[in-house]
Amino acid sequence: MRQPLIAGNWKMNGTRESIKALLDGIKAGIGDVKVAEVAVCPPFVYLADVQEQLSGTPIAWGAQNLSTELKGAFTGEVSAPMLNDFACKYVIVGHSERRTLFGEDDATVATKFAVARDNGLKPILCVGETLEEREQGVTEKVVARQIQAVIDKVGVAALADGVIAYEPVWAIGTGKTATPEQAQAVHAFIRGMIAEQDAGVAEALRIQYGGSMNAGNAAELLAQPDIDGGLIGGASLKADDFLTICRAAG
Ligand code: 13P
Repeated sequence: MRQPLIAGNWKMNGTRESIKALLDGIKAGIGDVKVAEVAVCPPFVYLADVQEQLSGTPIAWGAQNLSTELKGAFTGEVSAPMLNDFACKYVIVGHSERRTLFGEDDATVATKFAVARDNGLKPILCVGETLEEREQGVTEKVVARQIQAVIDKVGVAALADGVIAYEPVWAIGTGKTATPEQAQAVHAFIRGMIAEQDAGVAEALRIQYGGSMNAGNAAELLAQPDIDGGLIGGASLKADDFLTICRAAG
């Protein structure tokens, strides 16, 4: 049985003060979350605060990105060993905002996935099609290409302890959610394409849905057989909404 993972991707939001209040709210309600594993991914600069506030709780934390490099003259970058210094469990790689706004291609994302794993971090690999690609009927082709780039780099077995987040770009931050049927279809496709390469890995792999998942729609999305949690943007910034989603996971 795959344990669902509900992870908050805070993106570039929050202040020291608002994050303290948000974490206090999540900690106060986490006792009611019986099934899901819960994690939050703050901006880098708040990792120390988050580590301090979440150590000893059941809530994990991670980063939103990492460098392909381990150290050196790479101004503005943050390395995997640095994330380990703050006890990150997860790191998001290949979020569509990184791909489209910061030019990360499949090869870069695959390298980041590899570097994360090599350094003991669990990568959350984001994949998903744009609206144009969906309308052209190439959703499966795009998602398969994004995932295969990682498999070609690290081997299919490396996916077993990682996480894939299916995030249709047209549903991110738009309030438009994939229907449970649309999401399930792509999740099943992803599991199927991995099963062709390794059935055991496909069975173990957690595939999250992301894209305007909220307190109102989480339960029906999470009820789908191949949806193993959520990667939550906007709704993860409100403790009550985030907890409602966490509780909806089982
Ligand atoms: P929203 O939940 O704000 O649509 O963001 C989803 C997302 O991009 C999570 O990584």
